[in-house]
Amino acid sequence: MDRIAVLTSGGDAPGMNACIRAVVRAASVRSAQVMGVWDGYNGLVDQRLQPLASREVANMLQRGGSIIGSGRSAAFLRPEVRQGCVDYLRAQGVGGLVVIGGDGSLKGAQELHRLGMPTVTVPGTIDNDMPGTDITIGADTAIHTAIGAIDRIRDTASAHHRAMIVEVMGRHSGYIAVMAGLAAGAEIILTPERPTDLDHVLEEMQTVFSRGKRHCIIVLAEGAPWPAAELTRLINDSPTPFEARYTVLGYVQRGGSPTPFDRILATRMGVKAADALLDGHSGVLVAWKDARVVARDADHLEPRADPWADDLPSVHLVTNL
Ligand code: F6P
Repeated sequence: MDRIAVLTSGGDAPGMNACIRAVVRAASVRSAQVMGVWDGYNGLVDQRLQPLASREVANMLQRGGSIIGSGRSAAFLRPEVRQGCVDYLRAQGVGGLVVIGGDGSLKGAQELHRLGMPTVTVPGTIDNDMPGTDITIGADTAIHTAIGAIDRIRDTASAHHRAMIVEVMGRHSGYIAVMAGLAAGAEIILTPERPTDLDHVLEEMQTVFSRGKRHCIIVLAEGAPWPAAELTRLINDSPTPFEARYTVLGYVQRGGSPTPFDRILATRMGVKAADALLDGHSGVLVAWKDARVVARDADHLEPRADPWADDLPSVHLVTNL
């Protein structure tokens, strides 16, 4: 195989560029050319491929976003369109594809693999909600961004004796909420995985107040039972010791320069992905397991971990006294 392609798909994640760079350079060491596919699977559907030379991926390690663009493609969900994509890749002399993205992107890659186009997926999403890997590229950076914001919000919350609701990303995943909440000392953390009711939130707020705290930080995952505005209204309509305000952090969490952890993870995973493809593997997910980068059969992955696993609930209780 002397030509492979790479695409980034779904919501972008800091570190995707570092991963593209690693794929290009690892392939070039083995004398293989890398073609960049523009805007995720859309670029396969619309036939937009462009060579990525080693020098063209310079100065990308530190850049957020994706230089080849990312996206979601409705057309790609159609089987006949996917077959067209495989035919196109073959006609371009592309022998395999690296897909950097989340769960939906992995499913797309597996479909191409079943059609005979070798694929390797690298987990890239800030949500850290993929099966088979302990961490995804971009999650660490998103948590850093969220913590920086929550630290600032706590300053003003304390000054005004307020409850501050901070909504972080994660439509189906509370990972950012749990980790940022723990690292920023949030009093209450609400996730889609462990839904709770308003009475419980109000009771917790009362407990926080009776401990003498001057603020109550509530970190809320996007997919938790209420959007931030709604929860704020419900709290302010109830008898609580804290007046509530909210902040939705939104897309600020998706951009920005990747942390050292994400740069290193993305680089190691990118090299693994190129090597796996060039060694003849297909239908695999590059994963972080037992502190190692490994390539795993993507049809046999264990479900993603619950972000509230093991010791974290009691750690949260103890540290929030
Ligand atoms: O990439 C994951 C994510 O950021 C989720 O946390 C969020 O729910 C979703 O993407 C938003 O996607 P979009 O870019 O389509 O608004």
